[in-house]
Amino acid sequence: VASKFQAPRGTFDVLPAESQARGQIQAIASRLLDSAGYERIETPAFEYTDLFERGVGRSTDIVRKEMFTFDDKGKRSLTLRPEGTAPICRAYIEHGMHKLAQPVKLYYTGPFFRHERPQSGRHRQFHQIGIEAIGTDSPAADAEAIVLLDRLLKDLDVPGVALKIGSLGSPDARHVYVKRLAEYLRKWEADLPDGVSERIDLNPLRAFDSKDPRTKEIMAGAPTMIAALEGEDAEHFDAVCAHLDISGVSFTVDPTLVRGLDYYSRTTFSFVCEELGAVSEVGGGGRYDGLVEQLGGPSVGAVGWAVGVERILLAKGESVSQPKGDLYFVAGTNRDARQIAPAVADWLRWAGAATESDLAERGLRGQLKHANRIGAKWALILNEWTAGELRNMETGGQIEVDATELLQTGDPVGLLREWGQET
Ligand code: HAM
Repeated sequence: VASKFQAPRGTFDVLPAESQARGQIQAIASRLLDSAGYERIETPAFEYTDLFERGVGRSTDIVRKEMFTFDDKGKRSLTLRPEGTAPICRAYIEHGMHKLAQPVKLYYTGPFFRHERPQSGRHRQFHQIGIEAIGTDSPAADAEAIVLLDRLLKDLDVPGVALKIGSLGSPDARHVYVKRLAEYLRKWEADLPDGVSERIDLNPLRAFDSKDPRTKEIMAGAPTMIAALEGEDAEHFDAVCAHLDISGVSFTVDPTLVRGLDYYSRTTFSFVCEELGAVSEVGGGGRYDGLVEQLGGPSVGAVGWAVGVERILLAKGESVSQPKGDLYFVAGTNRDARQIAPAVADWLRWAGAATESDLAERGLRGQLKHANRIGAKWALILNEWTAGELRNMETGGQIEVDATELLQTGDPVGLLREWGQET
């Protein structure tokens, strides 16, 4: 009976055609982050639920509505990770990483899970590339993180990117400010929609995110944290901006920049991209000085970001696809030659040439037709060990070759190229 299974809502299969583009994004990111001294870390796809409740924050949409949470057989609550920062802080504490040279600079890539309403650029399983620099208060670390994400998006040719930065101040200053903001909102409570007014006490900052026109008007007159920054918080923010100016990274200061996670303090930033329409953000992050301590570790400063792989792909359209290099197909004219073909293919792959051979007992015509379909540029047609032809599948030109030479030379790929030029 034919089944009607489909991938679960909000998830998708990465088919081979797209897998190549994703691989390329990962490779470019790894090269950049390796070169900046960030080391790769992998944490589990699920964690104990209280890590996210405490780390990401109970007032956030992520914890309130978007987590995939389930009990294990021992009735402990587990959650598929909705983000990477809290798990990495957990690992930093668990493995005593505060004893290493600080800051500890880490990067990660992998799937994350949020039960959101699916739309273009918003999925229930999506992929992030992210970094965390843990164990530093210095504005140089904020600037380096931002410069690296800016560089990554440039290296990936993501079009139409703009950087917004803001500051939430240190937790104490933020606390005072949030109270002032709540008082301001309470004056307008009757005019605010339920979703906003309900959260005046829980998290009034989220009112800046509201799409409601009346709320937007009200928020235009609201006090901002940037205007309230003073002392070391103001100095820190100015220093981050100065570093960015010297690095030639352009940005605008957005006094209302709010990100959907509770752990941020001081710097926050968001890279938006006009190609992304409603979801708009390609990546972002900020400083989270209190988080490690809140999770039971030492009091250390930290900063990081994450970028959405699907959003990079969406912003770039089709343009990530990579031209394939030359592909060789080793064919055999008779039974003996067909038996040798896989060994020759293995040898050529070892030497660095992309090579395939027949896996379906085809005759010579069938093999060459197949070679054409898979886009092979060259067919090495073996008659027996010593005799064969190299055929250029694009032009049809071919020359006779001695296949044993291939097995004897130190540079089989070079020899194939030489032969290729004669076809
Ligand atoms: P976030 O803003 O929640 O931050 O997510 C970062 C990026 O992940 C977003 O800019 C977006 O590209 C992508 N993303 C988020 N949700 C979805 C979704 N449902 N579908 C597709 N893409 C999505 C964090 O996760 C923080 N941990 C970033 C950070 C690291 N802050 C400090 N260190």
